[in-house]
Amino acid sequence: MPDLIRMENIIKNYGPVQALSGVDLSVGEKEIVGLLGDNGAGKSTLIKVLSGAVPISSGKIFVRGQEVTIKSTTDAIGHGIETIYQDSALVTQLSIARNLFLGREPYKGPAFLGRLDEEMMNAVASDLLRKVGISKNIPPTTPIGALSGGERQAVAIARAMHFDSDLIILDEPTNNLGVAETQGVLNFIRGARESGHSCIFIAHNIHHVFQVVDRIIVMRRGRVVADDIRPGNSTVEQVERVITGMDEHVPV
Ligand SMILES: Nc1ncnc2c1ncn2[C@@H]1O[C@H](COP(=O)(O)OP(=O)(O)OP(=O)(O)O)[C@@H](O)[C@H]1O
Ligand SMILES: [Mg+2]
Repeated sequence: MPDLIRMENIIKNYGPVQALSGVDLSVGEKEIVGLLGDNGAGKSTLIKVLSGAVPISSGKIFVRGQEVTIKSTTDAIGHGIETIYQDSALVTQLSIARNLFLGREPYKGPAFLGRLDEEMMNAVASDLLRKVGISKNIPPTTPIGALSGGERQAVAIARAMHFDSDLIILDEPTNNLGVAETQGVLNFIRGARESGHSCIFIAHNIHHVFQVVDRIIVMRRGRVVADDIRPGNSTVEQVERVITGMDEHVPV
């Protein structure tokens, strides 16, 4: 079976800055991958390329063995790739339910009459909020602006779950989150595999990554320097040495 995602020799230049210098990376079906690296290593650039936020300078991207062109977020979503940033694209004035269905609103009766199916959206939203671990009873009609950072994160995660993306990318989703909210995000990532999703999880907290991933990929200065570190048979300290380049020997 081909990998869900394969990236080959990806180069990304920002003017004179080469953010990605020939990256090869793959993610299997139902695989949870942790992407680690110091500040400026190229992690966010790599996932921006995959999620259609920035164009690549050269290289190839394959989804289940088929070469694809990803030029926009819409292209990425069309290929089953959903990305969750710390500041996810949520509309603060709209309700939780409306944000979940943003751009994919269900209608009551013919769409040209423009009657949104609010009941359906609210019911699905309530159910999803429970699933992503928002235990407080927040009505789905609450505007996003009234939620905490972690709760907003949970809404973005709920959206990726509901629309059944094949690959869910989380770029530092646990930044600025409280303990309970962080556990909620980690639980979600663990659950993603069981529900058939693959994930790329970027975080600076190696302990969080160790708790949930199958495999760790390390980037340094625009290159992948290790791509098969298994949390089961390496230590946090070993991975730290790979990240900083103190240890050229890759633990596997
Ligand atoms: N829009 C841009 N224009 C110019 N250079 C950029 C741009 N975005 C990123 N870079 C540069 O590309 C390199 C990689 O940045 P990137 O954001 O991918 O790193 P990162 O691994 O996500 O780091 P962090 O852990 O700090 O988030 C850095 O040197 C950065 O300054
Ligand atoms: Mg980043």
